[in-house]
Amino acid sequence: MLNPDGAGAPAGSRLLEARGIRKSYAALEVLRGVDLVVERGELVFLIGPSGSGKSTLLRCCNRLEEPSAGTLLVDGVDLMSPRIDINRARRQIGMVFQGFNLYPHLDALGNVTLALRKVLRLSRRDAEARAMETLALVHLQDKARSYPGQLSGGQQQRVGIARALALEPKIILMDEPTSALDPELVGSVLGVIRELRERGMTMVIASHEMGFARSAADRVLFLEGGVIVEQGTAEQVFTSAREARTRQFVQQIMH
Ligand SMILES: Nc1ncnc2c1ncn2[C@@H]1O[C@H](COP(=O)(O)OP(=O)(O)O)[C@@H](O)[C@H]1O
Ligand SMILES: [Mg+2]
Repeated sequence: MLNPDGAGAPAGSRLLEARGIRKSYAALEVLRGVDLVVERGELVFLIGPSGSGKSTLLRCCNRLEEPSAGTLLVDGVDLMSPRIDINRARRQIGMVFQGFNLYPHLDALGNVTLALRKVLRLSRRDAEARAMETLALVHLQDKARSYPGQLSGGQQQRVGIARALALEPKIILMDEPTSALDPELVGSVLGVIRELRERGMTMVIASHEMGFARSAADRVLFLEGGVIVEQGTAEQVFTSAREARTRQFVQQIMH
């Protein structure tokens, strides 16, 4: 649950605690000390100009990118520990990508089942049963046997969400989940995200869907030049930002 004042949060209420995250590519410093702390059940929106480091930050949170510095706790587990089994730890963190990243030669069921068999080593029967339950959560139970090429972009992205959900992660990170979609298909994906939130799923979403952020996000973070410039409720960040840079960016994405 969202802790309104942050202070005095009971131990264990923080699901993701990334602090002082830095990331450089050669001489380019992309993240310059970012804190991303997410409470259980919270839906956090990450906004910021192209190149500000949103994707890099999300990828650093499960060490798909190796942070150059910083600490990273997921449900109290230190992901930067030299002793960590990172592949096992990554199962706690679902990822959803802008480009869906589905296997074109596998149907929807096959795409969801694959990770369950490979990662969790479930039997075909158990994997398919769980995959069908997850496809139902994204309202695609009747598309289980359709291939990505036979699905709309919105349906493909919902398969991508089902694939992440099937592994029963504690948190899901979504990198611009709707920006590759035709406008009329965005709603179905946002609808599923809203339902997940109502079921208590913890999520961090890089997205500029401001209307959705207003109605569903607990907190909005504005990232620019590799630092969090400002954060607050959607209302605060979109209508009464303290920082001129935030106001300027919000102006741009409103048009
Ligand atoms: N693998 C990489 N090698 C070098 N530079 C990279 C790499 N990945 C990202 N960058 C650079 O890092 C900066 C931030 O990129 P990114 O995290 O993708 O920003 P955003 O998602 O906010 O658009 C950009 O300048 C980008 O060119
Ligand atoms: Mg990006």
